Amino acid sequence: MFSPVLFRLVSAIKLYLLGLKVLVIQLFSKRFELPGWFSLVSDGKVAIVTGGGRGIGYEVARHMAKLGARVIIGTAYNSRRVLRTLFEETLSPLEFKKLDLASLQSVRQFVQSFKERDLPLNILVNNAGVMLVPEACTENGFELHFGVNYLGHFLLTCLLLDTLKLSGKSGNFSRVVNVSSSAHRNGEIRLNDLNCRQRYSAHAAYCHSKLAQLIFSSHLHRELEQGGFPVSSCAVDPGMVDTSLYRHLWTPLRLAHGLVSRLLFRTPTEGAATVLYAALSPTLEGKCGGGYWANGRRDATTPLTFDPEVQQLLWETSQRLLVPQ
Ligand SMILES: NC(=O)c1ccc[n+]([C@@H]2O[C@H](COP(=O)([O-])OP(=O)(O)OC[C@H]3O[C@@H](n4cnc5c(N)ncnc54)[C@H](OP(=O)(O)O)[C@@H]3O)[C@@H](O)[C@H]2O)c1
Repeated sequence: MFSPVLFRLVSAIKLYLLGLKVLVIQLFSKRFELPGWFSLVSDGKVAIVTGGGRGIGYEVARHMAKLGARVIIGTAYNSRRVLRTLFEETLSPLEFKKLDLASLQSVRQFVQSFKERDLPLNILVNNAGVMLVPEACTENGFELHFGVNYLGHFLLTCLLLDTLKLSGKSGNFSRVVNVSSSAHRNGEIRLNDLNCRQRYSAHAAYCHSKLAQLIFSSHLHRELEQGGFPVSSCAVDPGMVDTSLYRHLWTPLRLAHGLVSRLLFRTPTEGAATVLYAALSPTLEGKCGGGYWANGRRDATTPLTFDPEVQQLLWETSQRLLVPQ
């Protein structure tokens, strides 16, 4: 068994090596662009985009609004964002609503106020995320990566599922799009230690949270399909995108990242393309569910994602964690 220090070191090296591999593949692949006809898609659909105040989520929300969707952005309203957010609120058709995924109460309040408006919900984009944040807990005591990237979205989706089901129709399914990451490939599901209390590494915690999100996405789709509901769920990897997600990198790496990211990483607009495709494309109607999409194509993922026993156990454990103690 690794010592805590070695565990942190090995987890970090594994994630950086994976990142390097993804970057090389990304450099030699043609970047996916939304097809020309995409400007014709949409239609007054109602969408919720979490973490849409900046980065990939903002580009997703902005593009959807441009196509005619009514977009509600769930944002933690972190102080440094407030000014720009409020400025944009007055200029664009995007709606900003308070949603802190690190607080189960905030998630419940967000859903309650959404439901009071009696709107349909055609698209839910679970995009918000944190990466490599210093060890900390959510308001409810969950490790931050696990709590924000996975558990907050798990609760949000479960609470909105009835509205998604009512809003979907045969041939026009409601869609849940989970913005995951290739980092899931380094993830593990330790059901007796989802909170990473036994041994902690921010690098490993990010990977675990993204794997949990992917397993949830796949399980949710299977349940919806078996129940005959007009809702699909899929996951998307946006690729390596130049956003503030990397701000918690170790300082020397952050400096190096600053130099290369503008040249080698995708722009947030490019990162948003596959998310938009999965959320809106009519050609994917009935086809995107249960899958993992990257660079505009269905991609392979780790076998654990589709393991029915792991899916079920993760689902049940997550539900138990949400019951107030
Ligand atoms: N960038 C990449 O290379 C990359 C690669 C693979 C996957 N992804 C995934 O893509 C998604 C978007 O990331 P990004 O690159 O666009 O990062 P970003 O620019 O840092 O944006 C992250 C968003 O998440 C929101 N957020 C963070 N904590 C939250 C909380 N407690 N409650 C509600 N919202 C919260 C942030 O809100 P505030 O603005 O209020 O802080 C922000 O809008 C993430 O899920 C990430 O894991 C990104």
